[in-house]
Amino acid sequence: MVSSTRPIVLVTGASSGIGAALAREAAKDGHDVVLVARRREPMQALAAELKALGAESTIILADLSKPGAAAALMQDIEARGIVIDTLINNAGLGETARFDQSDPERLAAMLQVNIVALTELTRLMLPKMVARRRGRIMLLASTAAFQPGPHMAVYYASKAYVLSFGQAIAYELRVTGVTVTTLCPGPTATEFVEVAQMESTGLFNSPMPVMSAADVARLGYAALKAGRPVIVTGLVNKIIAMSTRFSPPSVLLAIASHLSRRRDAAARP
Ligand SMILES: NC(=O)c1ccc[n+]([C@@H]2O[C@H](COP(=O)([O-])OP(=O)(O)OC[C@H]3O[C@@H](n4cnc5c(N)ncnc54)[C@H](OP(=O)(O)O)[C@@H]3O)[C@@H](O)[C@H]2O)c1
Repeated sequence: MVSSTRPIVLVTGASSGIGAALAREAAKDGHDVVLVARRREPMQALAAELKALGAESTIILADLSKPGAAAALMQDIEARGIVIDTLINNAGLGETARFDQSDPERLAAMLQVNIVALTELTRLMLPKMVARRRGRIMLLASTAAFQPGPHMAVYYASKAYVLSFGQAIAYELRVTGVTVTTLCPGPTATEFVEVAQMESTGLFNSPMPVMSAADVARLGYAALKAGRPVIVTGLVNKIIAMSTRFSPPSVLLAIASHLSRRRDAAARP
């Protein structure tokens, strides 16, 4: 339970991958943390690890795919008297399928977690940060935000939303003392790959470098501290993101389709 006077970072999707690594960065940097996700055990293990770094953790179980989840989370935080200094909207999921063959329930969850909960939580937490003239927000986008993605159409579009939203509010808030940083990783070795059934895709079976969650978090956290509006992690990812500005859409679509299509036996043509 958070009870010290250290500033507090809330991380959604803290039970694995980039979210857990960002919580480690925050703890090393002298923060206490609020860990939010659906699975308790991995967050308990993380809390024990962070305790050794001097950080207190509060674990809150929340299913952000449920409508109203962000408001319920905010109420819970306020009822505990927790003041959030930094909000890291990291929770997210993907799905690899041709759109007409995708799972409607999974699509709804993806939209709710990747877009709705992220937007609502940001809206709920911002006014108090602005009133204090102090606060940091991080949004997890992806290099997928820079072009459309056949076979992951909704995921790519959800990340384009996050990048556009993040850049816009970072500009709006530039005179308020509150910064907004949109983190855009490329392929990263986390549970995301299995959750999105991407093991057989070109993206995770190509010469493209796959970064560790620890490296992504280290670079992302430094950008958050510096108040940078956008950070693309890794040189190759930076080049790819930049090249989308100059490449013809037909080429971008063909490359993204090639990289995102599943090649395993279970995938439908
Ligand atoms: N890995 C990559 O290649 C990559 C690249 C670019 C961007 N990203 C983005 O980075 C972020 C973190 O992903 P990751 O790679 O670290 O994947 P991950 O290891 O699968 O972690 C995803 C996190 O989101 C949480 N989450 C998923 N659905 C949730 C729900 N309904 N309610 C609450 N929490 C939920 C998961 O917790 P529970 O399952 O315990 O709820 C987990 O902690 C995502 O936004 C992802 O889109 C990933």
